[in-house]
Amino acid sequence: MKTQTVIIGGGPSGLLLSQLLHTRGIDSIVLERKTKDYVLGRIRAGVLERGLVSLLREAGVADRLDKEGMPHDGTLISYNDTAFRVDFAKLTNSHVVVYGQTEVTRDLYAAREKAGGQIEFNVEDVVIHDAESDAPYVTYRVGDDARRIDCDFVAGCDGFHGVSRQTIPADKRQEFEKIYPFGWLGILSKTPPVDHELIYANSPRGFALCSMRNENLSRYYVQCPLTDKPEDWSDEAFWAELKRRIPSEYADKLVTGPSIEKSIAPLRSFVTEPMRWGRLFLCGDAAHIVPPTGAKGLNTAASDVHYLYNALRDFYENNSQAGIDAYSEKALARVWKAERFSWWFSSLMHRYPDQTEFDQKMQVAELEFLRASPAAQQAMAENYVGLPY
Ligand code: APR
Ligand code: PHB
Repeated sequence: MKTQTVIIGGGPSGLLLSQLLHTRGIDSIVLERKTKDYVLGRIRAGVLERGLVSLLREAGVADRLDKEGMPHDGTLISYNDTAFRVDFAKLTNSHVVVYGQTEVTRDLYAAREKAGGQIEFNVEDVVIHDAESDAPYVTYRVGDDARRIDCDFVAGCDGFHGVSRQTIPADKRQEFEKIYPFGWLGILSKTPPVDHELIYANSPRGFALCSMRNENLSRYYVQCPLTDKPEDWSDEAFWAELKRRIPSEYADKLVTGPSIEKSIAPLRSFVTEPMRWGRLFLCGDAAHIVPPTGAKGLNTAASDVHYLYNALRDFYENNSQAGIDAYSEKALARVWKAERFSWWFSSLMHRYPDQTEFDQKMQVAELEFLRASPAAQQAMAENYVGLPY
């Protein structure tokens, strides 16, 4: 087989890139190691930056988002039993859209299938060959059937545990990592959200987040020790702990109910440099990971896809290498800003095991400053709604 771009990974990054390339008549084949149902079964954050919304619209995949997505003009931040609001609309003349990431992925699959896009599931033993040449190829297996695709480019959209990043020789790669000493215990419940906006809560007992998927599906998180397991937490224990961590005005009106999903996610900051190796380009979680505090995972993958899509367009439509040569530096410049914001917000809102009383005073002082300073809120809002591409 031959195609213009082989895309490894059928998550949001790979699917969005494939769909965007399709709008310009550029062929791609997506190789996904799991099944479509497995991919759609992943519960992930649902806050879309303005840039991602525009990109989905450019890809022709925004119809359901426009109908069901919930624009959020601000967010609440709470500490010491009090809360304040950061007004994105006033500060940035923009907003975010709350729309489940699973739904973004579902919409992208629907668009690729409608367009007759080639997606191969249950692929195994993917190997990228001759990435440094101008004729790379990918080999893989589906069952006992060994296959090969010759291509011009390979997009590594295969997430943190994929093969693409490992294809770059270790001595040519530099990795930066920070592991956080806690996890997020998250639940989904068919209950109305406690407020119409998100609540990020700093409390002496640890971080909590009140989020949502729609007006009858809520998503809540509490920071927990990495040694905890979901089965250690009954629903009752979860609700009681959440109520202790948010201001009483919200705890008193929290509607609880049975969890329909319960999981614990570890938190990590990670970046690999470079994001390009010859004709191989890394996108999304294959190249970087952020703690979910700033909801930057999918949104930073989206800016990678934007840069790579336009670079490949430049190559095919203008016979120019400029975009692909600039890709890694351009993508990383924005990646590091997203890493900083996610690290800053995580440092501000969580309880760290080795935190001293002075450290806790610094957190409260920064929260007081954020509450009182329009300039500080402007900086936070600009990062939250999404820095320009
Ligand atoms: N071969 C083929 N597919 C693979 C391989 C492989 N060797 N390894 C991983 N994959 C697939 C995974 O099964 C997954 O479906 O690649 C996909 C990667 O998807 P994500 O991990 O979701 O990463 P990405 O598409 O970059 O998503 C970026 O969106 O998933 C959310 O918040 C999450 O930050 C993440 C963001
Ligand atoms: C979520 O709804 O899952 C969510 C929202 C905002 C975040 C993280 C997760 O910062």
